[in-house]
Amino acid sequence: MNDTTPIQRVRRGVLGDVLVLAIDHPPVNALNADVRWGLLAGIQAAESLSAVKAVLIVGTGRAFIAGADIREFGKPPLLPLLPEVCQRIEDCNKPVIAAIHGAALGGGLEIALSAHYRLALDNASLGLPEVTLGLLPGAGGTQRTPRLIGTKAALDLILAGRPIDAQQALRLGLVDRVTATNDALVAGLAFANELIGAHAPVRRTCDARALHVDGPAHRQAIAAARQQMEREPKDLISPRCAIDAVEAALDEPFERGLQLERSLFLQCLNSWQRRGLVHAFFAEREAARFPGLGDAKPLPLEAVGVVGGGTMGAGITVALLDGGLAVTMIERDDIALAQGHARIEKVYEGLVSRGRLATTDKSARMARLTGSTSYESLSDADLVIEAVFEDGAVKQSVFEALSRVCKPGAVLATNTSYLDIDAIAAGTSHPASVLGLHFFSPANVMKLLEVVVPANASPETVATGLALAKKLRKIPVKARVCDGFIGNRMLAVYRAAADFMMEDGASPYQIDRALRDFGFAMGPYQVIDLAGGDIGWANRKRKAATRDPRARYVQIGDRLCERGWFGQKTGRGYYRYPEGSRQGEPDPEVEAIIAEERARAGITPRIFNDEEIVRRYLAAMINEGANVLKDGVAQRPLDIDVVLVHGYGFPRYRGGPMKHADEQGLARILADLRRFAAEDPLFWRPSPLLVGLAERGADFASLNAAF
Ligand code: 3HC
Ligand code: NAI
Repeated sequence: MNDTTPIQRVRRGVLGDVLVLAIDHPPVNALNADVRWGLLAGIQAAESLSAVKAVLIVGTGRAFIAGADIREFGKPPLLPLLPEVCQRIEDCNKPVIAAIHGAALGGGLEIALSAHYRLALDNASLGLPEVTLGLLPGAGGTQRTPRLIGTKAALDLILAGRPIDAQQALRLGLVDRVTATNDALVAGLAFANELIGAHAPVRRTCDARALHVDGPAHRQAIAAARQQMEREPKDLISPRCAIDAVEAALDEPFERGLQLERSLFLQCLNSWQRRGLVHAFFAEREAARFPGLGDAKPLPLEAVGVVGGGTMGAGITVALLDGGLAVTMIERDDIALAQGHARIEKVYEGLVSRGRLATTDKSARMARLTGSTSYESLSDADLVIEAVFEDGAVKQSVFEALSRVCKPGAVLATNTSYLDIDAIAAGTSHPASVLGLHFFSPANVMKLLEVVVPANASPETVATGLALAKKLRKIPVKARVCDGFIGNRMLAVYRAAADFMMEDGASPYQIDRALRDFGFAMGPYQVIDLAGGDIGWANRKRKAATRDPRARYVQIGDRLCERGWFGQKTGRGYYRYPEGSRQGEPDPEVEAIIAEERARAGITPRIFNDEEIVRRYLAAMINEGANVLKDGVAQRPLDIDVVLVHGYGFPRYRGGPMKHADEQGLARILADLRRFAAEDPLFWRPSPLLVGLAERGADFASLNAAF
């Protein structure tokens, strides 16, 4: 490279006949305004330099280009706009070649599609993930992609939002060639010189002919995509807009298609679902940064212990084995140990039979598993995760044993859902090493990990929990000790709000449907039936003695459990599950029990509309979220959003409950709470933190910024 342009983000240099434009904008070469200017100026220079016969675009560092700069969304647009840059590249009168390594995503792939030739390195990852941000490809992607690879393949790429690898891209015709060379500049230059030698012409993607082959198939692909959308929430607009834009590629000239794409892109850009998804994108990354940890170093993590091989212990063991760790699993006796082992086998067999795991990989993972009934086997463990029964005395005895046998400094973690981890820590001889690691079921699948930090945990202990989360590719969220931590504490409150509505007149089926329509993966009563009503029942019985006698308590769930109706596993719960079906049907007998309970409580049922159901459920959730913040259990509203989205089925495209509250306006949430409080002032007491923010005209986002 012999020259740097005034625009620093794109280095420019002539190497032989080729002008190289090397994008240098760490960490992922996002296309901010400087990069866009640099590319534009580079193309202009190529045309004006007579010695230049071709242009090569490469990325420096770890990626080609990870897309538009997500941080620019929602701010006043900066020129030049990306579609203009792409058009200028495509219009260049000399061949432009893109040499792709690492990520070529969104606008990054659109830059490559505007080039005339594309070369991918083996490690390339190509995709159009815009719908995952509430957008659609907005720099020609909806018009160029179908012209190049056909409608079906283009829609698959755009609607799934998942990247594909270099070989898949080659098979689809998205790239011209794949190379094993591991240097994009070297490989790109060789390709460019070869094209120059062959007098390869400028070849514009807008002129590509894939849409001219097998016409009916393109219409079918559009129809199939629209049908698929019927299963998606109605107000998730970006995939629907993307389909409309791709259809325009079939019906309209290229320029008109671009215009439509632009207007649909702007519609999505200015929508709440885009704001929600971009919030989720940054919140997931921010949550993993624990403020206040300083430069504490994690302890080495190689050998890990798990105590308990039940539902959670087995799932956690699979997650640890998948993360490359050696695991020793402890159970009470040989029979329980064999059962735990069988649970792990079953998970892996399921993966193998669905083609998701090779048999050899299963064997390699199982080879790292050791089982034992003796705590002494944990003497070398760097970290132990306890997942025994949810019983304080049982846990206490496990921790006594662990603090006796484990090496000094080993992290002793509990997967408890509700119990007081400060008390557990106090009962050990190493309180600084005790931590909560609250996994979600199924633990090998769910991405969320609440890292619950007791008062005396050392920074190294916390850093080790965080390092474990990263190793397992989980999203860690820091929580403090309280009954239920962030997620289960909030769940108890918004589920109570659902129970009140049920007792006051709404059916569980209406409540579930209204919340599914809002975007939840499942309604609360479907979730109870899936997880097993007995778990909550046991918890309610345990807390009965300490429950505030003034608090309203709905007994409908208890009535079902007394009949042994625990949900899917017993064939009956809130729904009926005929012959082991997982698809529940409304049950008239349950409705009769609800009617009896209403009569017993002296309640005349009233009608709720779906909007009222959603508003009450969310007001309860948001209000308790504010209390969780006030009490310091969660550090930032964004932490709560990540927990509810990744652990409790809150629709990601709404960002999370606290983001949703900001979108609605806190004054409106507070007004709802005050309206509901007229019926039950104890339950609907507005959180002082929410009141303070609403009265100042502030929002939860202002608390995210404080860190
Ligand atoms: N814009 C701005 N910042 C970005 C970014 C982008 N497109 N992509 C990543 N970043 C930032 C991240 O926020 C993070 O910042 P931080 O260090 O301050 O937290 C940093 O880059 C590194 O990102 P990751 O931690 O995610 O790194 P990974 O190596 O795990 O992943 C990646 C890299 C696969 C590129 C991943 O970051 C990713 O998926 N990025 C988003 C890609 C995307 O969605 N692009 C489409 C944008 S929309 C668009 O292009 C519209 C167009 O059609 C007009
Ligand atoms: P489970 O009943 O399926 O498994 C508990 C296991 O612990 C049993 O296999 C039992 O034999 C074993 N065990 C009991 N005492 C032991 C001891 N002293 N030494 C060794 N093993 C012992 O229970 P589950 O559902 O796996 O729950 C375990 C923990 O995880 C509980 O604290 C629970 O609150 C928590 N949790 C459960 C979730 C769930 O969805 N089930 C989700 C998140 C946390």
